[in-house]
Amino acid sequence: MYVCVCHGITDRQIRRAVEQGARSLSDVQMKLPVGACCGRCQDCAREVIRDCQRGETCGSNAVAA
Ligand code: FES
Repeated sequence: MYVCVCHGITDRQIRRAVEQGARSLSDVQMKLPVGACCGRCQDCAREVIRDCQRGETCGSNAVAA
């Protein structure tokens, strides 16, 4: 699904950034411009990051809690 409409960034792209080491929205923003325009997607992006860190929605690299 699209998280950031302004830049066409999907939850999958954000999860990939987390899998590659991003730990916060700021970290993800170093790889993707999510939230850098209107900012309305920032809460959703943080939620995707949090879920991924909990292993709830990450891809095959997810570790079950
Ligand atoms: S929807 Fe992401 S910056 Fe506007």
